[in-house]
Amino acid sequence: TTKAVILVGGPSRGTRFRPLSLDLPKPLFEVAGHSIIDHCFSAITKIPEIQEVFIIGYYDETVFRDFIKDAARDHPHITIKYLREYQALGTAGGLYHFRDAILKGRPDRFFVLNADVCCSFPLQSMLRLFEEKDAEAVILGTRVPDEAATNFGCIVSDAHSKRVLHYVEKPESRISNLINCGVYLFATETIFPSIRSAMKRRADRPRLVSYPSSDALDSYHVPRSGDEEEKTEVIRLEQDILSDLADNRQFFVLETKDFWRQIKTAGSAVPANALYLMKAWQSQSEELAKPSANILPPVFIHPTATVDPTAKLGPNVSIGPRVTIGAGVRIKEAIVLEDVEVRHDACILYSIIGWSSRIGAWARVEGTPTPVREHSTSVVKNGVKVQSITILGKECSVGDEVRVQNCVCLPFKDLRRDVANEVIM
Ligand code: GDD
Ligand code: GTP
Repeated sequence: TTKAVILVGGPSRGTRFRPLSLDLPKPLFEVAGHSIIDHCFSAITKIPEIQEVFIIGYYDETVFRDFIKDAARDHPHITIKYLREYQALGTAGGLYHFRDAILKGRPDRFFVLNADVCCSFPLQSMLRLFEEKDAEAVILGTRVPDEAATNFGCIVSDAHSKRVLHYVEKPESRISNLINCGVYLFATETIFPSIRSAMKRRADRPRLVSYPSSDALDSYHVPRSGDEEEKTEVIRLEQDILSDLADNRQFFVLETKDFWRQIKTAGSAVPANALYLMKAWQSQSEELAKPSANILPPVFIHPTATVDPTAKLGPNVSIGPRVTIGAGVRIKEAIVLEDVEVRHDACILYSIIGWSSRIGAWARVEGTPTPVREHSTSVVKNGVKVQSITILGKECSVGDEVRVQNCVCLPFKDLRRDVANEVIM
């Protein structure tokens, strides 16, 4: 049998997702009508042999309760549980800590999904490759532009055999443009011993290895002063395990040609929303709004939202619960969250409008499009790096006729004058 683990991390990790993560843990943020974690989970539910799913992270116990309740109701044959780390244990440390739960029932293999990626999750194809190659591990890879590759784990593979020859997490210089998508399939027999030996190696020479942080703002793996915390089980798949697998194991890569994006910054929710909407559109999902003269697909409109028929929406727009959209409004490439009011003739482009915000008549809230191939959500304007996506935190208000351009605005702000290229605190 096969199981699946979704790695969600914890509260300190959501920093780049501010201001949206101030009000909601990132995995629960909705794009294209579903929470980020739900997009991962529904891919898992498409694999009939997976009957047990673990969400591993260090968020509070209560955070995923409703999600799990709904998931269990919709998929009665799947057991889904949240396993909470007492502190951040790293991507492999969490797996190891909960190995008894994962190993129960003796599954041969299990998937691991980073919750903060957006892709089509071709799990079935990964399983096929795993079987075909009699693999011990399969990683999902994708090609990105050369300049972007060093922000990710880089994979050197043999084009013919698909074997992973070499793996380096966020290398200093370019080694490959085939990168780690954050989706893996591991043989249980191999992965736990590999983690154990990495932990042993670490215990044998503590402090000698330095762990570059992927997130400048977090510091949880800095050794504490009192030394007993020293031997923490912080073990990362990427730095501690994958290069070993490449050296010694039956480790293969499935290269996806389908869409893939990371969801790190708040702005990256806009391309993720667009990609998931596109996917829903291609699969003729009933959830999307019917195209018309004023609805340019794909568009998601929550059933409880009220949209004036003269408003023009799309492409790539999600409208949340109880939103009201007035006459003559124009919205494209944007996410409008719950309880927002958009008054007549306002225009929202490349933006995220936070919960319960209010956009005045003839106001303009806009960001700048980023090329799809670029894995970044900032743009350079007049030599200065600014946010490409405009983001309003919850309960902001934009006055009538006010223009907000390339700004990030913290919650509860009242914008009465035009602003551009600013972080409004
Ligand atoms: N449970 C748990 N515990 N989850 C964690 C922990 C932890 O201590 N630390 C991180 N995570 C989760 C995050 O929530 C995320 O889903 C995933 O593990 C990876 O997060 P990071 O460790 O921040 O790595 P990254 O996102 O910078 O890079 C990883 O993903 C890229 C693809 O998006 C690496 O795997 C890269 O190689 C890869 O390219
Ligand atoms: P394409 O995007 O290339 O299809 O051009 P378009 O002219 O159709 O523009 P689109 O409708 O995609 O988005 C911009 C449109 O929004 C403009 O055509 C304007 O009519 C409209 N628009 C621009 N500013 C405002 C505004 O402040 N209020 C309202 N209500 N509409 C606006």
